Amino acid sequence: MLDEAEKAGRQPRVIQVYREDHAALRRELTQGLMQAQAHCSPKFLYDALGSRLFEAITELPEYYPTRAEAALFAAHGQEIAQALPKGATFLDLGAGNCNKAAALFGQFEPARYVAIDISVRFLQDALQCLQRQHPGMEMWGLGVDFSGGVVLPAPIEQAAAGPRLWFYPGSSIGNFTPDAALDFLRSVRQACGPDKGSGLLIGVDLVKDTPTLEAAYDDALGVTAAFNLNLLLHLNRLLQANFHLPEWRHRAHYDPVQQRIEMHLQARDALTVQWRDESGQPRQRFMQAGQTLHTENSYKWTVHGFSDLLQQAGFGSQRHWTDEAQAFAVFWARAQ
Ligand code: AVI
Repeated sequence: MLDEAEKAGRQPRVIQVYREDHAALRRELTQGLMQAQAHCSPKFLYDALGSRLFEAITELPEYYPTRAEAALFAAHGQEIAQALPKGATFLDLGAGNCNKAAALFGQFEPARYVAIDISVRFLQDALQCLQRQHPGMEMWGLGVDFSGGVVLPAPIEQAAAGPRLWFYPGSSIGNFTPDAALDFLRSVRQACGPDKGSGLLIGVDLVKDTPTLEAAYDDALGVTAAFNLNLLLHLNRLLQANFHLPEWRHRAHYDPVQQRIEMHLQARDALTVQWRDESGQPRQRFMQAGQTLHTENSYKWTVHGFSDLLQQAGFGSQRHWTDEAQAFAVFWARAQ
């Protein structure tokens, strides 16, 4: 047990695992740009400006998921808290400014908080501020790329004794293909450890009518268009490329068969883009008028479909909460 003086001087512990590998990024981007359907991972949407634009998206009238999820926690927080293990290690995937998790501390009463994001740089300020507000809570920051699955480094694995509460809000699971989502959920299930109370609390955007979905990804103010187009500025820096923004337009459409929004950047007229690959060699790609660069998928799930997915991933008993309009769902899936 820490005494009051020790608690007052407590600092979050941080571990940075992810190291940016420029050559690997250039190789990955070159491969995607050379495909018949050019594509690029949505992770490239999130440079410093892209992350700010995404925050602005969450405030748009058309982008309902963030508000719908917050409303679910406001309406059912007490009931959700009762379903969760007490004194858990709260592991926050894609923690960012830690606001979503911190808003739930009062109800969930975790013993320990682990904020996880690609870089501890993004987490440090928020964690220090949170540590001052909760001096009795042990806090960790973990910088890791968890898109290929979650694995805890040994010091956190040892510290996280007892139940683990994995938290993955915001329907970020929608940016995985169904196969990748299954692999990812399996890795979370594995990382629940041996405690029977452990599990995953996850927010999931639900299938709905096409106009509502398409408006959420193509808003009247053009913020989502700016978010998508900004990817080209990011690629210009990463690849020494010459994407010229006025030559491209934002496109978002819902595919009801695959149950996904697809975001693309479409060439307004025929154009050629040039860049340097991982060896510094010049590369180029010709695009006909109307051809696109596919930048993101955002899958929408039915309650039934996502419940099946959790079961396939090895989770045990489940509960879920939805709003009246059935726009969004929060699932609590126990590891066993
Ligand atoms: C982060 N992710 C869940 C968002 C989504 O809705 O797929 C990213 C986004 N793309 C365009 N608008 C928001």
